[in-house]
Amino acid sequence: MTANRQPETRRSRPRVATTGLAAAVVVAAAILLAGCDSPSILRSEGSAGNEIVTLAVWIFGILAVVLITVWAILVFVIVTGRRRREEDASQTKGNLRIEIIWTAIPAVIVTVLFILTLVITDRIDMPARGAQFTAVGRQWWWDFDYRELGFKSPNEIYAAEGRRTSIDIESADVIHSFWVPQMGGKIDMIPGHVNHIHFVPLKTGEYLGECSEFCGVQHGKMRFLFVVVTPEEYTAWVERQQKPAAEPTGAAAVAGKKVIGSVGCGSCHAIRGTALKGTFGPDLTHFGSRSGIAAYTLRNTPENLLRWIQDPQGVKPECNMPNVPLPLQQQKELVAYLEELK
Ligand code: CUA
Repeated sequence: MTANRQPETRRSRPRVATTGLAAAVVVAAAILLAGCDSPSILRSEGSAGNEIVTLAVWIFGILAVVLITVWAILVFVIVTGRRRREEDASQTKGNLRIEIIWTAIPAVIVTVLFILTLVITDRIDMPARGAQFTAVGRQWWWDFDYRELGFKSPNEIYAAEGRRTSIDIESADVIHSFWVPQMGGKIDMIPGHVNHIHFVPLKTGEYLGECSEFCGVQHGKMRFLFVVVTPEEYTAWVERQQKPAAEPTGAAAVAGKKVIGSVGCGSCHAIRGTALKGTFGPDLTHFGSRSGIAAYTLRNTPENLLRWIQDPQGVKPECNMPNVPLPLQQQKELVAYLEELK
């Protein structure tokens, strides 16, 4: 008998070790991820984000207590059970009181988690009213349309610190998902349906936004910048954006304006104040004022813009911007013109 039992004891040890190792890996991963540079929901700077962090901390805390309790009981049972095995191997069966207790405790825990989630979801999800602008998801960029103010600011949003930002959410093609991790929850962008999201940005700064629903090959390169500024700076930004495109001043930029009018860019792009009226691609009226190119795939520098104009399909394969073969001179003039559109 003793010889038969021996392997059982040995088998149970690695199993406990494996569970412990898996837990250690999860904890280590959580610590590493919390420290990395990508935006973390745990570093919230928005009203809705703060609610979500509160919920996450509560749930994590409750589940940590459950986990530690279960592990403590497990260790206790393994240690004492091994000692007593020889003399007492009886099972707990038909003990009504214990059965009620171990059914009631999980029921209470699940109910508490459910109520917490319900209360916080309700606080975040107030009915939307008075959206400042519409966010339209496209493959693979963001059309931020300030319809009432008369301008578009593709791939870059400005919002005023401490003021409610309310956004209508739409899609022009497939399902995308609007998400600024440090502001709050994500919301799906569904073709033919308008969703809403709102929150109060609490601290000035630049926050990365991203698409959170797989929407095709360039889903990973569908990002935008959410810039929180003071209310005064916000008003100044709106006034600048409402103006039509600036007239170019430099010689190269003046030549670039002629080039852009002659090579067909206007079939997709608009530049207010010029003959370019396309709506399929991003509005370029104030292109030079933006921080990123190609849905924040590249920083907006003359070198990166030249690279993008020369080979959009190389930078972002399968995007809707075609490679337009142009002499280098004209490419550089285009860059000079676009960068002057502040
Ligand atoms: Cu758009 Cu993923």
